[in-house]
Amino acid sequence: MNDIATSNIARAANMNGGSKPDFSRIRTVDGLDVKGKRVLVRVDFNVPMQDGEVTDTTRITRVLPTIKQLANGGAKVIVLSHLGRPKGQRSPETSLAPIAAKVAELMGGTKVHFIEDCVGDEARRGVDALKPGEVALLENLRYHAGEEKNDFGFAKQLAELGDIYVDDAFSSSHRAHASVDAIAHLLPAYAGVLMMAEIRALDRALEHPARPVMAIAGGAKVSTKIQVLTNLTARMDKLVLAGGMASTFLYAQGVEIGKSLCQPDAVPVVKEIMARAKQHGCEIVLPHDFVVAKELKAGAECRVCDVGNIPQDEMILDMGPKSVADLKRRFAEMKTLVWNGPVGAFEFEPFGNGTFELMREAARLVKDGKLVAIAGGGDTVAALNIVGVGGDFTYVSTAGGAFLEWLEGKTLPAVAALAENRA
Ligand code: 3PG
Ligand code: MG
Repeated sequence: MNDIATSNIARAANMNGGSKPDFSRIRTVDGLDVKGKRVLVRVDFNVPMQDGEVTDTTRITRVLPTIKQLANGGAKVIVLSHLGRPKGQRSPETSLAPIAAKVAELMGGTKVHFIEDCVGDEARRGVDALKPGEVALLENLRYHAGEEKNDFGFAKQLAELGDIYVDDAFSSSHRAHASVDAIAHLLPAYAGVLMMAEIRALDRALEHPARPVMAIAGGAKVSTKIQVLTNLTARMDKLVLAGGMASTFLYAQGVEIGKSLCQPDAVPVVKEIMARAKQHGCEIVLPHDFVVAKELKAGAECRVCDVGNIPQDEMILDMGPKSVADLKRRFAEMKTLVWNGPVGAFEFEPFGNGTFELMREAARLVKDGKLVAIAGGGDTVAALNIVGVGGDFTYVSTAGGAFLEWLEGKTLPAVAALAENRA
């Protein structure tokens, strides 16, 4: 059995509350001599986009310190990322080309080369042409099926392009994919500046959180989070379900939700989550009033509606004012708040009120020294940026799924790979 297979088995045994990786074994880029070296930097430029434009640049700006440090140190900086879920196929809407332009702009006009493939001749030619101090972004890793399969051959093709590997993609750490897992065993592997900051902040705040601790789980992606929710019931004192998640929970309880976002096939899981919550003494909190409308668009005509009264042709688009007031009161009783996912369709006016008001209140409590508030997830961070209170939260993670898995106490494969540190 090869090394990677062995370590995967060791990790599987370690899932869900096993011993965590020894973070002190992780090598950092501090003081690393990169002069003239080809440095492969894995980042997470899986940023929100609308009509080809980046709508939130947080994931870009947060890795610039690493990219700049390496470029200033005379490295040939070769940046790797995924975007979306193209499943091994090229598709124009998941090209990283517009991101390269954005990175260049945010770096103050530095040229960022864009290379149209991440492996093969195209990639090799592009990398060979790089001069020390220059930066290149390679095309979407997920255009190759080997990436998501953690394929050793694909990782080897990537590794051939560099001398050193730096992982600054904390938000992709929950994926055992070739560019964050297999590759870390093929090249000398280091954690970037953001990766280290994320690990330290989350470890400090969440390893033994001050209690009571409340989690808010919102957003639309019910299917991807339901397993996480099941595990969270064992670690949280209160679990607030909002957004699309809440309508599926209400639906499972036989409540009429009109044409709200819902995942009927998740009903058995919802029941399981409710049962687990009861067993662990975790209170599930669901909103009891909503802002509803006939359609999801900016400026849509809307009204407030109590739970149980939503007609067939309307849908839940935000938490209602009574539920918001109720939650604000509950915040005051908490010592720690962890937040993933907005509580309404905040991207469309006027459906951001619930999210924005609750964020302001959490920020106020943090500033008063009464609450530790940690937020994560692309949409959550985008909402915090709109309200302008991200800086007041105790910590804002760039990660969504990885943040939730950390919260559950799971070992993140890419962090484990950095700690194993064997190449
Ligand atoms: C994220 O946005 O959470 C990461 O970039 C991972 O993306 P994925 O959920 O498509 O693997
Ligand atoms: Mg995701």
